[in-house]
Amino acid sequence: MKKEKNIITASPAETKKIGKKFGRKALSRKETFFLALYGNLGSGKTTFLKGFAEGIGVKEEVTSPTFLIYKKYKAEDEKNFYHFDAYRIEGKDLALLGFEKIVEEPKNIIATEWSENIEEKIPQKAVKIFFSFLSLKKRRLIVEDDGGIMNGSFL
Ligand SMILES: Nc1ncnc2c1ncn2[C@@H]1O[C@H](COP(=O)(O)OP(=O)(O)O)[C@@H](O)[C@H]1O
Ligand SMILES: [Mg+2]
Repeated sequence: MKKEKNIITASPAETKKIGKKFGRKALSRKETFFLALYGNLGSGKTTFLKGFAEGIGVKEEVTSPTFLIYKKYKAEDEKNFYHFDAYRIEGKDLALLGFEKIVEEPKNIIATEWSENIEEKIPQKAVKIFFSFLSLKKRRLIVEDDGGIMNGSFL
């Protein structure tokens, strides 16, 4: 069943808080959790992921991996958090990074910024969030959860 949810946040803290809730949910999943983020520069993707990382128990500070393509962090329950930034790459570049293996491992939680650039590599079961800029402090988040992974419990 196709599920879609529209969220408007009025501050970075609010965006982080929603991210954290998604993180708690991701941690409870037994399979790979894949979160695909879309939207322009400054729309709040990294801010969201800072909260998300907190929710999955990452202790280090999450910073944008734009120049590194991805960063790996240790999360709770022996899970790994892979944070990709596809701003400078294309889908075909991911093969070199062992992307397929990363996506196959159930202990991995993966989030991709600039998913537009690697659309053909985004798994069908990914939870997708489309970010947009409304005003200085307001952002819109459209959540698409075709796999019903969030179980309608994400707010
Ligand atoms: N409601 C909001 N949600 C998220 N970020 C916000 C919000 N309001 C203002 N901001 C600011 O917008 C910027 C978002 O940047 P960032 O999260 O790095 O975006 P992206 O990763 O999409 O480029 C930050 O400077 C943040 O403080
Ligand atoms: Mg970013």
